[in-house]
Amino acid sequence: MQLEYALCEEVLGELAAELKPLLRRCENDLKNPRHGDFPRWKSVLDTLPQTTPAINFQQAAALLGEPCAEQSLLKELLMGLHPWRKGPFILGGIDIDCEWRSDWKWDRLASHLGNLQDQRILDIGCGNGYFGWRMLGAGAKLVIGIDPSLLFVMQYFACRHFVGSQPANVVLPLGIEDLPKNLSGFDRVFSMGVFYHRRSPIDHLQQLHRLCKPGGKVILETLVIEGDENQVLVPANRYARMRNVWFLPSSKALLNWIRRAGFKTVECVDETITSTTEQRSTEWMKFESLKESLLATDNSKTIEGYPAPRRAIFIAGR
Ligand SMILES: C[S@@+](CC[C@H](N)C(=O)[O-])C[C@H]1O[C@@H](n2cnc3c(N)ncnc32)[C@H](O)[C@@H]1O
Repeated sequence: MQLEYALCEEVLGELAAELKPLLRRCENDLKNPRHGDFPRWKSVLDTLPQTTPAINFQQAAALLGEPCAEQSLLKELLMGLHPWRKGPFILGGIDIDCEWRSDWKWDRLASHLGNLQDQRILDIGCGNGYFGWRMLGAGAKLVIGIDPSLLFVMQYFACRHFVGSQPANVVLPLGIEDLPKNLSGFDRVFSMGVFYHRRSPIDHLQQLHRLCKPGGKVILETLVIEGDENQVLVPANRYARMRNVWFLPSSKALLNWIRRAGFKTVECVDETITSTTEQRSTEWMKFESLKESLLATDNSKTIEGYPAPRRAIFIAGR
């Protein structure tokens, strides 16, 4: 399989001048990535059996490809890309029950996004691109997903195998820090599950502001705590066993930070405690999951004694 992004000028629109060199750079980086598992993952992609292309992105389990004849071979190959964290998918007839019921997050979000018809979208920390397929299903013209995890990029290419042609949803092997400084002009910018990993939260908000076009919207989803506008948790070390977690503000504090970063409007549209049915170990993600990160005696606390994960969604207008 060629690891390429052949997006046409019409789909890229006003973003073409900035995005074309970035796409070529990513294709170049994917020719020979320095990751020990890359040859194994690439051989999975090169061996995927042929199927009849099919898509349905308007259902919970994003459907790609008609069921192929070689179901057990296909399942074994897709298992070679374990762990599958974001989904669910039905790929070539195989149900992939991922660690996260990402469709539940989509259901909490979708009614607040406005009309996505013909919108050009940036999804920062997009994982394997699950939400990008759902955005296409809601009418988006283009979804540029970025994620530095090479495994998730390979999972994206596995999904793409079942689409047949070049779809307008791409996952690029990039972190937010790799984006060109002058990149701007997206109708919607998503940052979901990324904010609490940033050491400079206000810088992150200002970068989201720059990436979005005037009149556009930023969708920020992150971990929060209960409390007033002056409360923020900075864990002493790990949070729910995760390293690299920095700022968990209250929703009220974050509303203030988002306004201070220059957004004209902002609203918190959802706050939900993550359940162990939304994030859990499955056949497709065999490692430990949320359940093992909570106190066995009190599920309202992480094993470090902090409040259990609570996620909020903010819609900010530039
Ligand atoms: C908690 S997951 C969230 C995935 C997805 N957005 C969601 O909401 O389900 C965070 C993602 O951010 C990615 N990530 C880590 N560092 C990043 C960076 N510097 N820039 C962009 N994405 C990053 C990770 O690889 C991971 O896929």
